[in-house]
Amino acid sequence: MSSSVERFDEKARREFSRRGRTVVHRGELLRHPVYTRIVHWGVALTFILSLLSGFAIYSPWLYRWLTPLFGGGPMTRFLHPWFGLFFVIFFFFQFLNWFAPMHWTKADKRWVRETKAYVTNRDALAPEDTGFFNGGQKLYFWILAFSAIFFLITGLLLWFGDVIPRWLVVVSYVLHDIVALIVLAGFIIHIYEGTAAQPGTFQSMTNGTVTEEWAWTHHPAWYAEVTGRDPRQDYEHARTRQTERGRAIEAWERDQKTRDQAAPPSASDTRMP
Ligand code: HEM
Repeated sequence: MSSSVERFDEKARREFSRRGRTVVHRGELLRHPVYTRIVHWGVALTFILSLLSGFAIYSPWLYRWLTPLFGGGPMTRFLHPWFGLFFVIFFFFQFLNWFAPMHWTKADKRWVRETKAYVTNRDALAPEDTGFFNGGQKLYFWILAFSAIFFLITGLLLWFGDVIPRWLVVVSYVLHDIVALIVLAGFIIHIYEGTAAQPGTFQSMTNGTVTEEWAWTHHPAWYAEVTGRDPRQDYEHARTRQTERGRAIEAWERDQKTRDQAAPPSASDTRMP
């Protein structure tokens, strides 16, 4: 990417970070600065509005339920291309913002081949060469990038359908709808992965931070890069500490039971070791 685009992105990050705040507590790492979060939620909002208004136009059954949200049928038809246009604009800024970390590497190819292990949670940690984004996230990003171009071209052709050959309008309709269904599938997986599947991920797009445990579990190479520490070693230390704590609590509970059986408990007996 040209250095002028990088400079623009860097300046935007700096400006937004001056206005907004990201508090990184002990044991946490900065994941997404203010600018990235605002752009992401801009993309999300305009995408959801485009999707809902698009489905309302697409399906007569949904039309009844969704069009009142946008002020009726004609208003939904009027607003949909504008939502779509704003989605493409927001996504363009997200594209510039994430172009560098979204570069496809050999590690991503391996990650995609091992998707089954990821879905079934076979390993406690992601492959050690998983960087800031994993192969699945990059795939989603690139599908969106190509979809945005498709939406823009086919959307403009539909918008100005009156002055365009009929066959081109029909082809645009079909492509527009197919791409919408593909991104809808990706969007459902994305929401699941960003919330329920990986606890701690959602806060990266709200507070901007993640815990160190989250980082060494899901993105070990990024963890090593930003902390200079070995993710596997830190994971093993944390596991040992957790096991020792568990044992100490068990021993305390056993001790407590024995004392309770021997004599009625007094206030001083109920303290933790
Ligand atoms: C509305 C519900 C959404 C939620 C809860 C959500 C959540 C998140 C979170 C937590 C991340 C950060 C992941 C990380 O740091 O590893 C993220 C990244 C991302 N989001 Fe969203 N997002 C939503 C909607 C969208 C929409 C509508 C789009 C685009 C159409 C989108 C595009 C992206 C992309 C491209 C990334 C980077 C790659 C990835 O993590 O998959 N998101 N999202």
